[in-house]
Amino acid sequence: MVDTKPLLPASNSDGSYLTGSRVNILKPIKVYLTIFCGLLAIGLFAALLIGNYWSDNARIHGSLATSTSKRTHPLRPVSRGPAQGVSEKTSGIWAGVSRGPTQGVSEKTNRVRAGVPWNILPEPWNSTMLEWQRTAFHFQPEKNWMNDPNGPLFYNGWYHFFYQYNPNGAVWGDIVWGHAVSKDLINWFHLPLAMVADQWYDKNGVWTGSATILPDGKIVMLYTGSTTEAVQVQNLAFPANHSDPFLIDWVKYHGNPVLVPPPGIYKKDFRDPTTAWLTSEGKWRITIGSKRDKTGISLVYDTKDFINYEMLEGELHAVSGTGMWECVDFFPVSKTEEKGLDTSINGPEVKHVVKVSLDDDRHDYYALGTYHEKNGSWIPDLPEIDVGIGIRYDYGIFYASKTFYDQNKNRRVLWGWIGEGDSEAADMEKGWASLQSIPRTILFDNNTGTNLLQWPVEEIESLRLNSTEFEKVEVKAGSVVPLDVGPGSQLDIIAEFEMDKEALKKATGSNITFSCQTGGGAAKSGALGPFGILVLADESLSEQTPVYFYIAKDSDGDLKTFFCTDLSRSSKAPDVDKQIFGSYVPVLKDENLSLRVLVDHSIVESFAQGGRTVITSRIYPTEAIDGASRVFLFNNATETCVIASVKIWQMDSAFIRPYSDDDDKDDDDRKSSAPCLLLCPINYIVSCVTCLYFIYLVSKLS
Ligand SMILES: *[C@@H]1O[C@H](CO)[C@@H](O)[C@H](O)[C@H]1NC(C)=O
Ligand SMILES: *[C@@H]1O[C@H](CO)[C@@H](O)[C@H](O)[C@H]1NC(C)=O
Ligand SMILES: *[C@@H]1O[C@H](CO)[C@@H](O)[C@H](O)[C@H]1NC(C)=O
Ligand SMILES: *[C@@H]1O[C@H](CO)[C@@H](O)[C@H](O)[C@H]1NC(C)=O
Ligand SMILES: *[C@@H]1O[C@H](CO)[C@@H](O)[C@H](O)[C@H]1NC(C)=O
Ligand SMILES: *[C@@H]1O[C@H](CO)[C@@H](O)[C@H](O)[C@H]1NC(C)=O
Ligand SMILES: *[C@@H]1O[C@H](CO)[C@@H](O)[C@H](O)[C@H]1NC(C)=O
Ligand SMILES: *[C@@H]1O[C@H](CO)[C@@H](O)[C@H](O)[C@H]1NC(C)=O
Repeated sequence: MVDTKPLLPASNSDGSYLTGSRVNILKPIKVYLTIFCGLLAIGLFAALLIGNYWSDNARIHGSLATSTSKRTHPLRPVSRGPAQGVSEKTSGIWAGVSRGPTQGVSEKTNRVRAGVPWNILPEPWNSTMLEWQRTAFHFQPEKNWMNDPNGPLFYNGWYHFFYQYNPNGAVWGDIVWGHAVSKDLINWFHLPLAMVADQWYDKNGVWTGSATILPDGKIVMLYTGSTTEAVQVQNLAFPANHSDPFLIDWVKYHGNPVLVPPPGIYKKDFRDPTTAWLTSEGKWRITIGSKRDKTGISLVYDTKDFINYEMLEGELHAVSGTGMWECVDFFPVSKTEEKGLDTSINGPEVKHVVKVSLDDDRHDYYALGTYHEKNGSWIPDLPEIDVGIGIRYDYGIFYASKTFYDQNKNRRVLWGWIGEGDSEAADMEKGWASLQSIPRTILFDNNTGTNLLQWPVEEIESLRLNSTEFEKVEVKAGSVVPLDVGPGSQLDIIAEFEMDKEALKKATGSNITFSCQTGGGAAKSGALGPFGILVLADESLSEQTPVYFYIAKDSDGDLKTFFCTDLSRSSKAPDVDKQIFGSYVPVLKDENLSLRVLVDHSIVESFAQGGRTVITSRIYPTEAIDGASRVFLFNNATETCVIASVKIWQMDSAFIRPYSDDDDKDDDDRKSSAPCLLLCPINYIVSCVTCLYFIYLVSKLS
């Protein structure tokens, strides 16, 4: 057990009291009191007016999906992220200014494509198109910029989610911790900011951190602060009131920082502490990402109280050439059971996952391996697919992810930050930037033994509305088949493709060096692919996003399957990301090819083979929006017909909005301004009467 005493909030009850006053100073007091009360009365009246104005304006009516946030005045994009000591958050195709690197974090700019002015939205953008991009069932704040998920946890019946947030605009900067709670990971209440940059040790940013739940149920939060001198330090915080299920108030430990960069580590290369796990000696252990030269490393610390730390010799792991490791995650997965494990579990039934977010290429990589508790090191199963050089969680846009163990449902859940692929000018016009992925359950894939399985949490299925099933649809080589399911902006799609076995045997077209990125996209025909579905497509296919398989066959007749998403024709707009994403997907003998796609306006999350390979993309169509967006099956292979079985659900919108006390009563949210309308005048009257009574008392005394 851990001594949690140092973690108890310090008492603030040293209030001083006014004691007896002397009669000879009462005259001036009377004058001051009269002036004071007069000013107080005027002040309160002004506060009343302003308060009502604000409460009316701050209210968000109805679905956030359609709310129009206040436009942020366009700012000149400057570099954010790397300069401050975290990674750049730009998609690689943009050329322009940077935000992040100089402040010591990764790049956070959605840079404007070279040649396109940064502050002007080109044709054909208009407000209808931009408003359509806001999602209906993904977590996003009401407005402004968001990035990394922080300290996710389940406590007292509520899932808590914290996130890197800029309260002042739709670009990275001024980072604090946003906070929201949910009963089901899908519907959310926004809560007040959990932590702001109010101390010297986090003045430049309250950056990423993780939660640990202690055996007695108490919570500790470790996070990175960027100090007034832009040094990356680790800080400790905890809930002010563990009886409050919403954990609204957070207390920063008075002795912060608890960890500073050790000798030999650059002051801007020391960030993102993990959730702690227990050693067999009963100590807590954490790991923190860093680098030495070009070698990405993860430092290991032991602690008994989260205040004093002992650095272990050596690292959890190091991989040369991978650069700075951000947001390291370390957790066990069960080899034999389909459930998640508490972070402290170890043993022969378990493999350990190391995940790193590479500052240099801004992708999340993981590897499976063995953890050696004695010396605090981890060794990968397959060195050729070590962390940072092998498997990615997601082959699209997905970064700075973090898992937590959900003791409520015995599962491990993954959150990931999904950036934008449009311009900053568009983000500022919309007033928001970034999403969180649908939380994914994580399991070890014991059929392949070499990868994890990621799958949207089951709760997302509660949003499924009506569905249509298309059974055994024959999709001939070179054809496109429309699927009539109504509007295509909010969908959950599952599809299975059965291959013509004879064609697979006969096919000659062999190019095993195929890759999604260089394979020419969905428009380039091969013998055994591409085939799959088109989402966010308009009737004439002038805009379309193919999510597809491509099977390559080598000269020995061995098949290799790829899973891709082609953004090249996803939008007529010139200023959005149009990459082709994807990778290899393991397919075992006798397995059909299967996929699941969640479409939610500007985000498309695609899972192949039960989640062995995942691709998240951001799509910004100009025509294939609202009622005009459709779904099709397509097959652009030359030598095979595929039989597709598809089920498609329309998806409801989630309930994501600010919490108000009326939510207890499940009332119309308009009514929550009633307490102020009612209470403020009462406060005002009570204050005035008290003042007058005071003056009366004082005059009596003199
Ligand atoms: C935006 O353009 C589309 C297509 O040209 C049009 O249907 C829509 O009405 C326009 N919206 C506004 C607000 O102008
Ligand atoms: C702590 O939270 C509980 C539940 O919300 C509340 O009843 C109690 O008054 C709070 N305690 C303090 C000291 O704020
Ligand atoms: C794989 O997992 C299943 C349960 O998901 C279990 O029944 C089976 O024994 C496991 N196989 C191996 C080889 O561990
Ligand atoms: C840690 O211990 C394991 C198991 O004894 C060993 O294989 C590994 O080489 C050790 N690592 C280091 C860095 O000493
Ligand atoms: C759901 O119902 C609507 C209205 O009846 C219909 O237009 C749409 O095609 C249906 N969608 C699915 C996926 O079944
Ligand atoms: C094989 O694929 C590579 C990369 O995708 C491409 O450059 C090459 O032209 C292809 N070769 C053949 C014979 O199709
Ligand atoms: C299929 O290939 C043809 C010819 O390359 C191309 O014009 C068409 O757009 C492709 N279909 C899809 C759905 O990509
Ligand atoms: C593959 O799909 C076909 C047709 O839907 C089905 O009959 C068969 O059972 C599937 N095979 C597997 C292994 O799921």
